[in-house]
Amino acid sequence: MMPKAHKIRATRDEVLQAPAAPGSLLVIHAAELLTLRGSPGPRIREAAGQLGLIEDGAAYAEGDRIRDVGTTTDILARHPRAGVRLDATGKVVLPGFVDPHTHPVFAGSRAHELEWKAQGLSYSEIAARGGGILHTVRATREASEEQLARDAASRLRSMRSSGTTTVEAKSGYGLRTADELKMLRAIADAGRLANVDVVSTFLGAHAVPPEFEGRADDYARTVEGEMLDAVVSSRLASCCDAFVDDGYFSAEQAGRILRRARDAGLRPKVHADELADTGGAELAAGLQALSADHLNHASAGGVEAMARAGTVAVLLPATSFASHLPFADGRRFVAAGVPIAVGTDFNPNCWCDSMPLAIALACHHCGLTSAEAIVGATINAAHAIGRDREVGTLEPGKRADLLVLDLPSWRHVGYRLSGNAIETIVRQGRIVEDRRGKR
Ligand code: NIG
Ligand code: FE
Repeated sequence: MMPKAHKIRATRDEVLQAPAAPGSLLVIHAAELLTLRGSPGPRIREAAGQLGLIEDGAAYAEGDRIRDVGTTTDILARHPRAGVRLDATGKVVLPGFVDPHTHPVFAGSRAHELEWKAQGLSYSEIAARGGGILHTVRATREASEEQLARDAASRLRSMRSSGTTTVEAKSGYGLRTADELKMLRAIADAGRLANVDVVSTFLGAHAVPPEFEGRADDYARTVEGEMLDAVVSSRLASCCDAFVDDGYFSAEQAGRILRRARDAGLRPKVHADELADTGGAELAAGLQALSADHLNHASAGGVEAMARAGTVAVLLPATSFASHLPFADGRRFVAAGVPIAVGTDFNPNCWCDSMPLAIALACHHCGLTSAEAIVGATINAAHAIGRDREVGTLEPGKRADLLVLDLPSWRHVGYRLSGNAIETIVRQGRIVEDRRGKR
C-alpha cells in the first residue's frame, strides 16, 4: 500500500509544481459548460437537444486543441495552471458556432430590391425582373479577386463577432469557370484574413447565366464537365452544391452534377425545396449528401428518405424572414429522426451574419427548442459540412474554439432576438475577441 500512496502523492506534487505549458488556456467556473458530447453521428430524436451540460464546468487547452473538460474542481486538480486563465463565473460556455451555409463572396448589394419586396414582389418575381442572383453575378464578374476577398473578409469578421468560428462558404456568383475559381480563391483568402475556419463549396449550378438563357441543360452539362474538372484540379473546394428548385435546376440535372462531383471527391450538398417541392430532399438522400438545405416545402417522402440516409436538414429561417417564404417545420424533422442544423444563409438577399439571430428565428418560427437549436448550430452543423471530427463539441482532441456568453442560462440562447451576449471568443486556443469589462 505504502509505495502506491507515495506514488500518487508524488504525481500530485509534480502536477502542482509544473510550470504552465506553453500556449495553455484554462476556462473555469462556467455556471453552465455545454460540451455537446454524445454518441458519434449527428444528434437525432431524444438526442436532438442533448447539450452535455456540466455545472461549474471547466476546460483546459494546449496549443489549438482541447485537452480536458470537466468540473472546475477536477480540471484544476489535473491542470492547476495555464498561460491564460479565463474566469467564466456566472456565464455559459459552449463551442464556437458552426455556420453551415453562407454565400459571403459577392460584389455590390441588393439593397434596392427591398423596395420591390415592399411592393409584394416574390423572390421569383424579383429574379424575373433581372434582379436576384443574376444581378449579383453581373457585379461579381466585374470585381477583382482582391476586392472580393477584402469584402468577404470583413463579412467573416462580422460573423465571428457573433460567435461563428467555422463557416461554410459557397461560390455561385461567377457561373463561368474563371469567375467561379476567382470566387473560390477569394473565399480561401478571406478565411485567412479574418481568422475564421472556412469550408469551401463549389456552387456552379446556382442559376443559369445569361449566355445560356433558355438552355439550362446545356449549362448543367458545362458545370458537370469543364467547370467541375477545373474546380477539382484546383483543390479549392471540398463540397459541391446545386440549387434544385422551380426556375433553377431540376433534380435530374443536379443529380448528374453532384454524382460526378462525389466521384471526384467533393461532398454533395443540395439547396432543396426552398421555393417549391421539386424533389430536392429525395435527391440529397439518394446521393447520401452531407445536407439538404432550406426544405420549406420538403415532401413527406423526402423527409423520410433523409431520415433513412442520415442527411442533415439545414434550416435557414433568416431567408424565409427576408423573402417572405414559409418557414421550414423543424418538428417534422425531429419527429422523423432527421438531424437538424441551423445556418444564416448569409447572401445579398439575406444579409444575416448572426448565428444567434438564426438560432432565435429557428426557435420562434421553425419550432425548435433552444437546446435543439444549439445542437443545430454546433455539432450537427459540423456534421453538415463534414467537420464533425474537428469542431462542434468541447471534447479532448477537438479544436479549442469556444464562446463565453454573458447569459444567465443556455435557455436564453434562442430566446433573445438581439443584443450580442458573446463576451469572449477563443479560436484555436487563443482569445481572439474579448469584451470583458467593456459591455
Ligand atoms: O440560399 N437559394 C439560392 N441561393 C441563396 C440565395 C442567393 C441569392 O439570392 O443571391 C439562398 O437563399
Ligand atoms: Fe443558399
